[in-house]
Amino acid sequence: MSDCFAPDGLEAFAAAYPGEAARVVHRLHDHPLFTLDALADLAERLPATHVEHSFGNLAVDQDPAGVARAAMPVGEIVRTIDANGCWMVLKKVDADARYAALIDASLAELAPVTAPRTGPYRRREAFIFLSSPNSVTPFHMDPEHNILLQIAGTKTMRVYPAGDLSIVPAEVHEAFHHGGRHRNMKHDAAFDARAVDHVLTPGEAVYVPVKAPHWVQNGATRSVSFSITWRSDASDGEARLHRVNRRMRALGVTPGVPGENAAADAAKVVAHRAVKRATATARRMLGRGRERTAY
Ligand SMILES: [Fe+2]
Repeated sequence: MSDCFAPDGLEAFAAAYPGEAARVVHRLHDHPLFTLDALADLAERLPATHVEHSFGNLAVDQDPAGVARAAMPVGEIVRTIDANGCWMVLKKVDADARYAALIDASLAELAPVTAPRTGPYRRREAFIFLSSPNSVTPFHMDPEHNILLQIAGTKTMRVYPAGDLSIVPAEVHEAFHHGGRHRNMKHDAAFDARAVDHVLTPGEAVYVPVKAPHWVQNGATRSVSFSITWRSDASDGEARLHRVNRRMRALGVTPGVPGENAAADAAKVVAHRAVKRATATARRMLGRGRERTAY
């Protein structure tokens, strides 16, 4: 019995997973956890680090330095989202037990498709996006497998193919996994010839592959979306490959193009895992934590 997704709502996803974007049909748009009051309460309960917001009148190619924030309590931003011009994301909402149960139920329904192809779930996280009419989420990519479920309002997600180095160069992938950069990326209208628009209304969703670039245009009413994400052996390997390539480039060696030599890519991933395991073992033997000092 499927509660989160429609009985035939995962057919396109099953054909596309894990590498292609696909339409999904869900049943969560009337769920009581997604009323504005429930979401305002959640925003007030979550740690401040889990709540990010700004004004939503951004450019597709937005300079992060030019983003302004409303001077309002987070609960009030949610309750007045119809007219306050804001965009908000509630991060790691699985910190709340009721939302965690919903995420677990959704992922259990997806597992018959995902497990045979990408193995068990790693690091499962969920996000809720709220936006005022006509807000834009600028061009970016994410490191997880992601299903974005539209709860209220409409939005158009323009999705570009993952792994197209003419859209996102290898050096940008490498910097992405090194951290320290704002997520917004350089957009060029010439990329649009390779994009597919997914128009989402309540009850519809889209699967976005790992690091498939995308940007979002919200419709004429407030929008609420629920994003369920997970990592996998495949996404972990892809990240390790770019970390190794960044090290090589720093040493003056030009790494091979990702995807051109599968055996070389796989060897780098294996080597990276081995080095990280050895480093962790050495730290344990020396009585040191991973990155934090223990007091
Ligand atoms: Fe995203």
